[in-house]
Amino acid sequence: MLISPQHDNLNKIVILNPKGGCGKSTLATNLAAFYAQQGKTPTIMDFDPQGSAISWLKRRPGSLPTIHGIAAYKKTVQATRSWQLRVPDDTVNVIVDSPAGIGHEDLREITRDSTKILIPVLPSAIDIDAASRFITDLLSVAKVDSNDRKLAVVANRTRKHTKSLARLMRFLESLDIPIIAVLRDSQNFVDSAEVGIGLHDMHPSRVRPDLEQFERIARWFDGWSERRQIAADILDIQRRSFSKVSFMRRRQAESA
Ligand SMILES: Nc1ncnc2c1ncn2[C@@H]1O[C@H](COP(=O)(O)OP(=O)(O)OP(=O)(O)O)[C@@H](O)[C@H]1O
Ligand SMILES: [Mg+2]
Repeated sequence: MLISPQHDNLNKIVILNPKGGCGKSTLATNLAAFYAQQGKTPTIMDFDPQGSAISWLKRRPGSLPTIHGIAAYKKTVQATRSWQLRVPDDTVNVIVDSPAGIGHEDLREITRDSTKILIPVLPSAIDIDAASRFITDLLSVAKVDSNDRKLAVVANRTRKHTKSLARLMRFLESLDIPIIAVLRDSQNFVDSAEVGIGLHDMHPSRVRPDLEQFERIARWFDGWSERRQIAADILDIQRRSFSKVSFMRRRQAESA
């Protein structure tokens, strides 16, 4: 697996969770529809051999704003792989849909050069346990730096005030990973997927509460460089105060 963005300012959003059916393709296609409605022709890169995102794109009516699609799951020989994964010049936002059961090797490749990683999680005990293990893997195996502040969770198919949602929130708090949106369990996601559209292509009165959640995701995306800078500054202050303390300890030891 190789992803070679052509431009430096590419916003590569990777949707990940090895657990099947948690909403990766739903989140990927709806984010793409969101950017398309804003006139920012996005690209969907589909790494899942099921090809759900590409099939959705094929069902998309031609009258709607364009979304590019790359069937990254169709493996070509190495020599032509980077050509196959080439992102069109007019793309700023690439949304990567990933398969269930992704292995460590693929995880490293798919997260390389990512600017944001979103993990959709269903609020059930089994899904939360699986997500906890996966996030640990992501931080250690794929060496995703938590100081980059590019990792966030989207709670999906939620019903309000459930115990399991509260449990998920406590776990993420302990890891300092934000839940940036809470998507409700809604037939709108099912109906829109069937006809190749996103919630942003539906009548606003039908989907208003859901669109607000996508606005929250977009705001979190927009604040990324600032969050990253704040985290870097805090790290720098911690390092400096640590080296000051160890310097003072050395001096005390020398003069004792
Ligand atoms: N918020 C939601 N409300 C209602 N249905 C949903 C919601 N999110 C996803 N679904 C439905 O749940 C099913 C699984 O969603 P989806 O295909 O996006 O999951 P996935 O993580 O991509 O699955 P896979 O791991 O198999 O690729 C689909 O039928 C989808 O329409
Ligand atoms: Mg999928």
